[in-house]
Amino acid sequence: MSDQELVELAFTMLQRSYVPYSHFPVGAALEGADGTVYTGCNVENAAYGSSICAERTALVKAVSEGCRSFRRLAVVGNGQDYCWPCGACRQMLYEFAPELEVLVANGDHSFVKYSLCALLPQGFGPSSLGQ
Ligand code: THU
Repeated sequence: MSDQELVELAFTMLQRSYVPYSHFPVGAALEGADGTVYTGCNVENAAYGSSICAERTALVKAVSEGCRSFRRLAVVGNGQDYCWPCGACRQMLYEFAPELEVLVANGDHSFVKYSLCALLPQGFGPSSLGQ
């Protein structure tokens, strides 16, 4: 699958977002090492802090299905600006895939590509615990 195809898959998830509070849908598509793609959307909650981002939805779907290594992630929104992954999502992804390629798109379906370790420099991961 091309980078643009992974981005378009993430866009299909915007319709599943549950965003009655922010009205800011986000979609994600996370590609496992074997090529399986796990999708996600943001799911908000009346207790705002209990909401979950699209990327973490995709990640927990994958890990709960037994997948722990990843190649690429697409994260997309409808805004003019690129839909950058938040700090909590960067940290959760770093646990499993510090070298992950992250495709970050805007509402025009344009995207930029970064390595996760560039988005989270000097990240704290499993090796930081000496494991
Ligand atoms: N959001 C994501 O889904 N991913 C991010 O990395 C940034 C923020 C969601 C959370 C919330 O539902 C909405 O965007 C506005 O912050």
